[in-house]
Amino acid sequence: MAERKYEAALVTGASSGLGRGLALWFAQRGTRVFAAARRVEQLRTLAEEARAAGGTVEPVELDVSQADRTLERIQRIDADCGGLDLVVANAGVGLETYAKRFNWERVKQILDVNVTGAAATLSAVLPKMVERNKGHLVGVSSLAAFRGLPRNAAYSGSKAFLSTFMESLRVDLRGTGVRVTCIYPGFVKTEMTAPNKHPMPFLLEPEEAVERMARAITRGVPVFAFPWQMSTAMKLVKAIPDSLFDPLVRKLR
Ligand SMILES: NC(=O)c1ccc[n+]([C@@H]2O[C@H](COP(=O)([O-])OP(=O)(O)OC[C@H]3O[C@@H](n4cnc5c(N)ncnc54)[C@H](OP(=O)(O)O)[C@@H]3O)[C@@H](O)[C@H]2O)c1
Repeated sequence: MAERKYEAALVTGASSGLGRGLALWFAQRGTRVFAAARRVEQLRTLAEEARAAGGTVEPVELDVSQADRTLERIQRIDADCGGLDLVVANAGVGLETYAKRFNWERVKQILDVNVTGAAATLSAVLPKMVERNKGHLVGVSSLAAFRGLPRNAAYSGSKAFLSTFMESLRVDLRGTGVRVTCIYPGFVKTEMTAPNKHPMPFLLEPEEAVERMARAITRGVPVFAFPWQMSTAMKLVKAIPDSLFDPLVRKLR
């Protein structure tokens, strides 16, 4: 599959981890990248790094949990830059929500960012992309979307939403010039996984994960789950009946 080039991209959650890496990756290849997050200092440092490498990153202070503002801001960027041709809904929070110590504030925070924030990010440009018959929408889901993982009701649920949302968009947009890619990373060494005390099989370095994700995007792969060992394991886990799944994951914890 031929690798495509992008003129203008927006990446949310670009102040650290996978989003930062993706923003830099595309900027280094000539894409004008709007890098969005709340921590502007980190975005400025990223912009300097991109400039030193001959690329362009423009910091955008954005809290995606403010859905209406997110929608307006991205629509304005799209209009001002002459049309975004790549939008990556990557911003996410990965906090635990243990059923025996449930905390609504935490659940809401996860849903506001991972569900409403991601949907607002993509919805901001989708109608214009359809009008132009050109563009690429990317959602960063997780292998945790495949089943309701222990202590992860909100996170697994939020990523299952994003995956299903991307799938429907992909079906609707089939045959048009608008592409849809859903990415399911396994464990990657980032700020999100740093506090994890449980084992993280096949943990990837962020550079390696970014390279794989960026290549999947430029090739226009509709669904990209990695690394293959974790993705295969999760596909098997998805296929087993609840009567086997429940005791299995309890044992794993
Ligand atoms: N690391 C993994 O193992 C892994 C596995 C599967 C999926 N993922 C997914 O990959 C994506 C990136 O995660 P990461 O691992 O790179 O973690 P990370 O380093 O913690 O990055 C998360 C990014 O999301 C941004 N963010 C959080 N809340 C936000 C908000 N309200 N508004 C705007 N931006 C917000 C953060 O920026 P600010 O704090 O500056 O706003 C940060 O840039 C997430 O969607 C995550 O669920 C990660």
